[in-house]
Amino acid sequence: MPRLPWFHRRRDGAGGILERAPFLSVLEPELRQRVRKRLTRRKVESGKSLYRQGEAADALYLIESGRFRLFVSERPGQERVLQFLGSGEIIGEAAFIAETAYVTSAIAIEDAFVLRLARADFDNLLGKNDAILRYLAGVISERQALANARLAAESQPEESRASRGFVTAVYSPRGGSGVTTIALNLAIALAQRHPDDVALLDLDVLFGHALGSLWLEPRGVLAQASPVTLRTLDRPGLDIYLIPHSSSLRIFPAATKPEEGQTITAEQVHAIVTVLRRHFGYVVLDLPHTFSEIALSGLELADRVLVIATPESTSLRDVLETRRILTEVLSLPTARLAYVLNRPHPYASLGVSEFAAATAAPWTEIGHGGDAPATAALRGESLVDTRRNNAVVRGVIALAEQITTEAREHAALSGRSA
Ligand SMILES: Nc1ncnc2c1ncn2[C@@H]1O[C@H](COP(=O)(O)OP(=O)(O)O)[C@@H](O)[C@H]1O
Ligand SMILES: [Mg+2]
Repeated sequence: MPRLPWFHRRRDGAGGILERAPFLSVLEPELRQRVRKRLTRRKVESGKSLYRQGEAADALYLIESGRFRLFVSERPGQERVLQFLGSGEIIGEAAFIAETAYVTSAIAIEDAFVLRLARADFDNLLGKNDAILRYLAGVISERQALANARLAAESQPEESRASRGFVTAVYSPRGGSGVTTIALNLAIALAQRHPDDVALLDLDVLFGHALGSLWLEPRGVLAQASPVTLRTLDRPGLDIYLIPHSSSLRIFPAATKPEEGQTITAEQVHAIVTVLRRHFGYVVLDLPHTFSEIALSGLELADRVLVIATPESTSLRDVLETRRILTEVLSLPTARLAYVLNRPHPYASLGVSEFAAATAAPWTEIGHGGDAPATAALRGESLVDTRRNNAVVRGVIALAEQITTEAREHAALSGRSA
């Protein structure tokens, strides 16, 4: 089945979606050219709909830029969000192929451009093309599985909603690598993409940076809650602890002071992660820089571990040692680890290629963001909101896209096996 490789292709220049979209790339060049000639561009402003539930599907759309929220409304004012789609992805395909009315509505969440292929043109050019029909069938079944998984998760009783949320742990064996900076800004970037569906668990208990960075005051902390209390928290109970940030991110604080943080047990971490992933689609863990009980239990619970390094040879050695401990001692699957080279300082000794070669794994790079990350923290501002062009912001947005894709696949998979 064709996959949707949009996240690692989105930023490769303005070369155009027409070269990169899988929808077109499955076609022979000559046919692709003919299809391109029939596409018409349409702008959809942020907040406006591309189509609405109940309307007839008379065209197929390819998203050129921008993002759409797909949802079903059961009653006016009440919507269930099914999916977000962006650049390079097709939209409205299920109703188009089935020749039925749309069962979802699609609203632009940022200014968007779509390329429209009318039904008559589709029938003429593609109606008998096996490659495109297979591609569309693949997309339809993948999205159907995803929607089913989401609806099934939502309709389950609260206690059995075991693992809806996708847990991303951010870890480095060395302090000052940018773990808190990346965890916090990644969580904010995710929250902008998935409103009200993201929580950050601030386990960097020695300094409690995530909270300190945003100048938020905790009302209750992990260190003071028993595992039994934590496990039985319903949403209103959880909300007492959660600190809301303007991006819609919720932050669960671990401790009010370092000595309190050191009393946290694996059982408490386990209990709170279980509760958070029941209520949030995305959970980010800001882990301490040790192989303490807290860090190890966070690492074990994560669906994705981001190992953060800085461009020095000592850091590379730390990464190799970390990988050995995580895979051989903790028995985490190697595939669960992903690597990020962060540049807290302007000078650089090693490049990303040296890290990639030494680990035989792909690396994501986050550039040096100047003073902005530190000053934003001091002022209690969030970098993602105020500095869209900062290297750290660009880096975490790319990570948020990758995590989003992984979480979708994860949900589709657990939906299938359930
Ligand atoms: N890519 C970057 N560019 C600029 N400054 C950074 C970057 N990453 C981290 N920093 C700064 O480095 C310092 C340490 O980062 P922090 O996130 O607290 O590290 P850790 O949680 O790993 O100890 C902070 O002052 C932070 O603002
Ligand atoms: Mg930290």
